[in-house]
Amino acid sequence: MKNQIFNGEAFLITGIADEHSLAMYVAKEIIANGGNVVCTGLGVSSLHKDLSEKATAFLNKNYKDFQNAVKKELGNVETAILDVSLDASIEAFAQSMVEKGIKINGFLHAIAMDKTIRQKEVKPLLEVTKDEFCDTMEISAYSLIRIAHYLMKYNVLQQGSSICSLSYIAAAKVTFHPYRNISIAKAALERITIELADELGRKNGTRVNVIRFSPYMGSKAGNATLHESDLEISGEVSPLGNALPMDLAHEVIHLFRPNSRITGEIRHVDGGYNIMG
Ligand SMILES: NC(=O)c1ccc[n+]([C@@H]2O[C@H](COP(=O)([O-])OP(=O)(O)OC[C@H]3O[C@@H](n4cnc5c(N)ncnc54)[C@H](O)[C@@H]3O)[C@@H](O)[C@H]2O)c1
Repeated sequence: MKNQIFNGEAFLITGIADEHSLAMYVAKEIIANGGNVVCTGLGVSSLHKDLSEKATAFLNKNYKDFQNAVKKELGNVETAILDVSLDASIEAFAQSMVEKGIKINGFLHAIAMDKTIRQKEVKPLLEVTKDEFCDTMEISAYSLIRIAHYLMKYNVLQQGSSICSLSYIAAAKVTFHPYRNISIAKAALERITIELADELGRKNGTRVNVIRFSPYMGSKAGNATLHESDLEISGEVSPLGNALPMDLAHEVIHLFRPNSRITGEIRHVDGGYNIMG
């Protein structure tokens, strides 16, 4: 039997939409290495008010796809609804962990949303409205703070735990794909990582890191955003070609490993794209 990295520790995995989500690769790898997962999906909860029929149908389908994928790929694991656009949903999730007696040894933040990207077309930054800017910032960056806040408030996040979120090189540079609005949220996510690494490290021994990953079209978000040509360009520029979801999963596992002292890092899992001029 191979040496296991985990000994039953539990990790919260956000951001699974279906079996092709990056978060799913991470969840599978945690289980393969002796850990447990609690998975959250975006769906309708009692906390949602005045949802349109269209929004309700979208959220219901999203949650069904999430549950089917989790069952198929991970078997019987704990699942819950989490909509980070509602503070009350994050709080209710943390409370549900207390009720179930589940303590969390870390979490993966794999959540992003940007309505200024539609069918691979990106709105110029000059045209982005305040609502579009703030919604993207709230869902894709601020939510990292709020998840950590409520898990701490209810004493669910264990001492020495590890948090990891997902970003890309566009947080720092204009790249093969003009992300614009979401790039700014990713820059905020990275800065939040550094500030939280200081606060949570001192308070709870908790590590906080972020990984910039290669473009990946397999997921819903990736497919809605990227063109094949983006992957070709980044693959050619990167000395090792584009990194794959398993490369990402291995790095997250490494950062989740108990008793490490790696924190506040902005890591690259990108085949070396970032070193090129
Ligand atoms: N695909 C890529 O090329 C790529 C590259 C680098 C980083 N990333 C990042 O990886 C993460 C996961 O993306 P992915 O490519 O696996 O796509 P994905 O579509 O599988 O995952 C995005 C997730 O965000 C969730 N989400 C959106 N709004 C939410 C809300 N209000 N509350 C809770 N969850 C919400 C969606 O339900 C979905 O599960 C994102 O942060 C993304 O920016 C993706």
